[in-house]
Amino acid sequence: MTNPRSLFLRTLKGEASSPPPIWFMRQAGRYLPEYRATRAEAGSFLNLCYDPEKAAEVTFQPIRRYGLDAAILFADILLIPQALGQDVAFEKGEGPKLSPPMDEPTLESLSMARLHEALAPIYETVRLVRAGLPDDVALIGFAGAPWTVATYMLAGGSMKDPAALRQVYYERPAFLRRLIDLLVDATSEYLIRQVEAGAEAIQLFDTWAGGLPEDVLQIVSVEPAARIAERVKGAAPDIPVILFPKGVGPALPKYAGLEVCDAVGIDFATPWEWAREAVSPLATVQGGLDPLLVVSGGEEMLAAARRLKSVFEGAPYVFNLGHGFTPETPPENVTELIAAVRES
Ligand code: CP3
Repeated sequence: MTNPRSLFLRTLKGEASSPPPIWFMRQAGRYLPEYRATRAEAGSFLNLCYDPEKAAEVTFQPIRRYGLDAAILFADILLIPQALGQDVAFEKGEGPKLSPPMDEPTLESLSMARLHEALAPIYETVRLVRAGLPDDVALIGFAGAPWTVATYMLAGGSMKDPAALRQVYYERPAFLRRLIDLLVDATSEYLIRQVEAGAEAIQLFDTWAGGLPEDVLQIVSVEPAARIAERVKGAAPDIPVILFPKGVGPALPKYAGLEVCDAVGIDFATPWEWAREAVSPLATVQGGLDPLLVVSGGEEMLAAARRLKSVFEGAPYVFNLGHGFTPETPPENVTELIAAVRES
């Protein structure tokens, strides 16, 4: 049963409310001084992810500071490749490094055998967070979607143009499908364990879904998301599923129309009125505000936030950004943003 005290969970299930529930992607992170302090104590980003007490602490920080309607588990999408056996490191100022880059023989060396053992600290974080949150604040579990995680695995890190990896699909379709299938299995199991540990909704981040031809998008992004959501709902039928396929524009209804999709996140380039007409009838809409508006703040940010809220008035809508906060975001701007959304 969905917790009836959570406005966020009720909204995911289709209830429209004014003001809408609010949470933010990357609400825990480097823009907060209290995050930087805990991160310094942990020594490295990965140490922080694998330390349940500290990861729970940074999950709570934005809830304490802002009184948001949902907390998101503090972890990273690249813990899955690491749990499958690929080396993952975060080097200062350089972003993630995964080694060796995936090819056919390396893929054969990956295994699900130690998945839950490697991810056990994350499940413990989920338990600690759920036990420490007020009961009207929902806990969101998450994972990266297979295509987005595969881009990091294939390239050995971040790429300027991840959509260029569609070449792998054209040239080595069986290899790419095997990689995606492995990620569907690992991600489904990971999310089911998060739900068993106390996550009350899950979000799949498909940050690099943009720029793909529609038939490729269907195979590498839409279908894997549907399979994961089906598997999770097979184990936990009431769990709301949020899909965030960034950059897909007019393909959003393909995700929102899936039987297993409760909500879709819209990125900051998605036209709001279009989403209200084309997406709201199919699923709850979440997000849309440009995170860079929160860096500059002021009237420009407040006017945009009020307009965004009014476009979705009467529809089930979760206030959020169109991508995560950047480290330059002044925390005071977030306080003003929330006040503007919650004023009647
Ligand atoms: O508050 C939250 O949203 C929860 C925590 C969270 C993090 N990463 C923490 C993090 C979530 C949901 C993610 C998802 C994630 N990780 C995505 C998908 C969403 C998106 O932002 O597009 C991706 C692509 C990653 C992979 C990743 N993690 C990269 C490319 C980087 C390095 C780039 C950067 O911003 O430094 C990270 C590191 C990372 N993940 C940080 C945080 C707070 C910064 C690490 C630090 O403290 O040094």
